[in-house]
Amino acid sequence: MTNVTKNQKISKIKAPIVDALRQAYENPTYQFHIPGHTRGGGTLPDFKKLIGAKALSVDTTDEFDNLGTLHPATGPIKEAQELAAKAFGAKKTFFLLNGSTAGNLALAMGLTKKGQKIITNRNCHRSVLTGMIISGAEPLWLIPKRFEDWGIWGNVTPESVEEMLSSHGDVSMVWITNPTYEGVVSDIKSISAICKKYKVPLIVDEAHACLWNFNKHLPTSALKLGADAVVHSLHKTGGSMSQSSMLHISENSILDTGEVERALKLLHTTSPSLILLASLDAARANLESQRGQKQLERAVKNAKYLRSEIEKMEHIHDLKPDFGYLTDVTKVFIRADGLSGKRLESILEIEFGIEVESASDAGLLILSNIGNTRQDFQYLVKCLQKIDQSNYSDICYLENKKHMPMLAPIIKKSLREAYFSEKETIPKDLAIGRISAEVIAECPPGISVLLPGELITEEHLPYLTEYDFIEVVKNK
Ligand SMILES: Cc1ncc(COP(=O)(O)O)c(C=O)c1O
Repeated sequence: MTNVTKNQKISKIKAPIVDALRQAYENPTYQFHIPGHTRGGGTLPDFKKLIGAKALSVDTTDEFDNLGTLHPATGPIKEAQELAAKAFGAKKTFFLLNGSTAGNLALAMGLTKKGQKIITNRNCHRSVLTGMIISGAEPLWLIPKRFEDWGIWGNVTPESVEEMLSSHGDVSMVWITNPTYEGVVSDIKSISAICKKYKVPLIVDEAHACLWNFNKHLPTSALKLGADAVVHSLHKTGGSMSQSSMLHISENSILDTGEVERALKLLHTTSPSLILLASLDAARANLESQRGQKQLERAVKNAKYLRSEIEKMEHIHDLKPDFGYLTDVTKVFIRADGLSGKRLESILEIEFGIEVESASDAGLLILSNIGNTRQDFQYLVKCLQKIDQSNYSDICYLENKKHMPMLAPIIKKSLREAYFSEKETIPKDLAIGRISAEVIAECPPGISVLLPGELITEEHLPYLTEYDFIEVVKNK
């Protein structure tokens, strides 16, 4: 039994924003303020019918009805952030609207400066790049392992971090994505020890790992392994609503929390959605509750069940932990002999009505979520068994496009300088040999094919089949 469960048995788990919103709903006032739909009266009736009158009644923003404020955090919002900090093991937690993207932007804007060097992995999310475009910091690219058979990036090794830190005396920060989108887990404990040796702060983008602190079968969160700050997309796997995320500052962080808070205030909307904030509060409370713990246990068991069934299949394989890296069991990355990930995805969707998280060149990603049932997985297994026993072939037109950028960039100009330079838009085929002025990073996974300042080469073309034109730095 985790500490969370023990504590929760003693008292009912609090959810202050949820409670305050309920209070507001049950004690309506005459409203002469935003949002102007005024509890749904001013919207399309079909829309009201679709999402429900109650949802529109509680669609409000901070300041009203004793709900507190987000910036600065006051009232129930402050209390909910404090409860979240406790649950995730942080010194301070900020609720984020606009996803972990907002967290990464605030970390870069608040903590990095023009010209500073930041060690980051090549497969970082584009929001890390955007943050550096804002601040003017410069990435030093760590190239993680490549898992060629799986067509995905692998782990970042502690040795590669140490090598970079020892060969560049002026690094301001290390910023690692962990786990990867497909669930590959790097050795953050060792990376963190190395950062401490070099007295450099470590940020871990844990967008895909907000569940780790709530189940012993999942890897350990970087908040417990010495990272200074961590972002979590609660909306991805934690049960909150789309766009809602958290940014945590760890107990012993050497970062300036005030700078992060100031940047967040500038970046955030001034009309935060109470529904989104309440959904973060609810997600944290659910994960701490017995019910949530059981759901997470079920998600782990469902993933193990799926993996054990795949083990018996002839042509379908799942990515497992190996030397130097772990995997998050709930992220099941699979591939099928003779089929691209995209083709496998379309078979599942068109023939079986199954939608997976994403697909790339070699494989596809299945998430075992806290909301999934065993029946969901039994159906999925049955469909995969059918595919395993059939003779599906690939459709070659799907193969012309590559989906998972796995290139090491050739950098010709700084990110910020290239982004804000005089630009021109030219046909893609003429762009080879020119310097990109834009971020091209399709989501998912939001890993850049091209970033500002990068030399465009023929190798980029298979990833750019849907682009006719590219924005490049204008030649002088
Ligand atoms: C590693 C990583 N970091 C950050 C983000 C941004 O998260 P959000 O969608 O919550 O803004 C993503 C999104 O996919 C991601 O994969």
